[in-house]
Formats: sequence, C-alpha cells, structure tokens
Amino acid sequence: MTIEKPRLAILISGRGSNMEALVRAADAPDYPAGVALVLANKADAAGLQFASARGIEALALPHRDFAAREDFDAALDRELSARRIDAIALAGFMRILSPGFILQWPGRIVNIHPSLLPKYPGLHTHRRAIEAGDAEAGCTVHIVTETLDAGPALAQARVPVLAGDTADSLAARVLVQEHRIYAPALAAHIRDLHQSFVQIT
Ligand code: GRF
Repeated sequence: MTIEKPRLAILISGRGSNMEALVRAADAPDYPAGVALVLANKADAAGLQFASARGIEALALPHRDFAAREDFDAALDRELSARRIDAIALAGFMRILSPGFILQWPGRIVNIHPSLLPKYPGLHTHRRAIEAGDAEAGCTVHIVTETLDAGPALAQARVPVLAGDTADSLAARVLVQEHRIYAPALAAHIRDLHQSFVQIT
C-alpha cells in the first residue's frame, strides 16, 4: 500500500528557475511533497514548458481574463481544489493574492522573496539594497499571510553586496541562494504541517 505524498502546486509568472529547483528537489524519494501542478498567471511563462516536459501538469490561468483580483483568486482556488492540492509554493509569482484567498489556505502558502525580510518587502529589492549602501543582501523563504512579504520567516541566506554591484549582478548572486534554500525550507515546513504523515510502501 502506498499513501500519496502531500500534493504541491507551484505558482509562477515567468522564467521559473525557483520552480525548477523545487521540481528537481521533489524528485528525491524522501522529499515530503510531490509537485502535482505548475500554474502560471501568464500564458507565455517560460517555466510552463519545463514543467510539462517533466510530465507535470502545467496550467496557464491568465489573470487578464478576469475583471477583478477576487475573480482570478476564486478561479485559482477552484483549480487548486479540483486537484486536491495540499500546499502552494509561490516561485516568482508576481501577483498579490487577496486576503480572502490566503485565509482559505492558512499556513499552506510559502513564498521566496529576494531580500532579507523584513527589509525591502515589495519590488526592486536589489536596487534598494544597493542604494541604501547595505553590506549584505539575501533572500527569505516565508509563510504567506495577508500582509505582503510579512509572514513568518522559515529560512534566510545572505550574500555580500560587492563594490560595483548592479541590481542585476546582485540579483544573480542572490538567485543562487534562492535555489539552494527554497526546497529544504519548504520541506521542513511541509513536514511540520503533515506531522501525522507516514509513507507506507
Ligand atoms: C526570484 O528572484 C524571486 O525571488 C522573485 O522573482 C524572481 C523569480 O525568478 N520574486 P524565477 O522565475 O524563479 O526564475
């Protein structure tokens, strides 16, 4: 008898390199979740091709097809519920989710943000870190709550800001760390969520 692992949906908007890192990590037999769906809010999100090439369902749900944020979020909720999704990983998903949606998935949505939160929630994190003269930058894996980029942190990684860094060069250095910390931080959180989960084979 096999008990299915918790089912993870990864939400993306573009390139999807963090999604790729999660998919590769979840291939390990002892990873505590399986990737059941990759969903993008843009039909041309490059990451969708990677997912379908790996045999993972890849779904475009363009937010432009919906008049209001809440309508998009309701459709998103329907797609996730229809696939019995247990947890959601935001990976470069550039949409703010409405409080109503987030409250329906309490503790079950995790995000990676390219700054050392609570510093620099929102956009342009690398430019802001350079302009502030920060010696360090980094990334944070955190639980999503109704306040943008303010939920409890699960993991952080730091990198130095180097003389001559541009937003792009700093972003590239931080991205390496994003790929390193997201999967294990998410795994630890999912193990906490599913403490009673036992795999019987
Ligand atoms: C990452 O830096 C992520 O932290 C930020 O947007 C970028 C997305 O990159 N929110 P990718 O799509 O995962 O390659």
